[in-house]
Amino acid sequence: MDIETVIRSIPKAELHLHIEGTLEPELKFELAATNGVELPYGSADEMRAAYDFDDLSSFLAQYYEGMSVLLHEADFHALAMAYFERVAAQGLVYVEMFFDPQAHTSREVAFDTVIGGLRRAQHDAADRFGIRSQLIMCFLRDHSVESALATLEHAAAYREWIIGVGLDSDERGNPPVKFRDVFAAAREQGYRLTMHCDVDQQDTTVHIRQCLDDIGVERIDHGSNAIEDEDLVAELVQRGVGLTNCPISNSYISGDTKAREIRALHEQGVLVTVNSDDPAYFPGYVGDNLAVLQREADLSRDEIVQFVRNAFIISWLDEREREAYLERVDAWVAASETG
Ligand code: HPA
Ligand code: ZN
Repeated sequence: MDIETVIRSIPKAELHLHIEGTLEPELKFELAATNGVELPYGSADEMRAAYDFDDLSSFLAQYYEGMSVLLHEADFHALAMAYFERVAAQGLVYVEMFFDPQAHTSREVAFDTVIGGLRRAQHDAADRFGIRSQLIMCFLRDHSVESALATLEHAAAYREWIIGVGLDSDERGNPPVKFRDVFAAAREQGYRLTMHCDVDQQDTTVHIRQCLDDIGVERIDHGSNAIEDEDLVAELVQRGVGLTNCPISNSYISGDTKAREIRALHEQGVLVTVNSDDPAYFPGYVGDNLAVLQREADLSRDEIVQFVRNAFIISWLDEREREAYLERVDAWVAASETG
């Protein structure tokens, strides 16, 4: 079996996926028409051609602008179903997906509308595609601590639908410690914890250090700049804190997939995973990201399998489910070697 087929077909998990970042221009146009929203472009192709971002803030501007078409429960359902359908074709079997409630509640779209549509899609995707999924609620780090606390309070009614909390949006001037109390409260309430440390951001290694020492995260989203500091690498390894890397996203945000850094972290024993981040904007879903990394870092088939296994290992599945998925991967590998 050639390596492309392995990448497409091996049962995979994704741990770093913003569901709002899967909104493809075609669906944007469809929803805009249904909801009577005007878009500043004549067609999906024109919109895609106009995407112009080369750093985090220029990406975020278009990411938030795109959400204007998401108004009703059915829109969030359609958004997530389009994602599930695409990744079912790339061998995805499990996903932990971020959603950004504040990006919707700040537009007068109710929390219940957002999570209701996503939740219904999660059920439908399990039925239709056999994809299991869990939700991670992200706080927007460029909003206030008070707004994050209010969002956490709001989420209490849906506590059992949300596995963990994360931190995303514009990192500049918004360090992890800004949200120390919010994450302490979330931990009290039983949420799992992760945070973004985007690639090549100002003070990024300081932020990674804060994630570990001040917040006590279990994972870091991106975080590949840890390679610049051997103490950080040692600590990630020792604590088993994994990194959710996104090569194609990196190539837009920092002009480099960071394949070399990702490979080096992996070789030094960090639990590194490969993910898609915002695939409608950084074109490429989970299998595409693995393929890019494989080519650039010249990964062997065994290394691909290790990256895939890592995602299940650092996932927030319970032990029994985690083992079942790992056995499924191992069985797939064994069958592909004999078949
Ligand atoms: N980084 C920060 N915030 C985000 C991202 C990201 O990659 N995607 C969506 N919100
Ligand atoms: Zn992200």
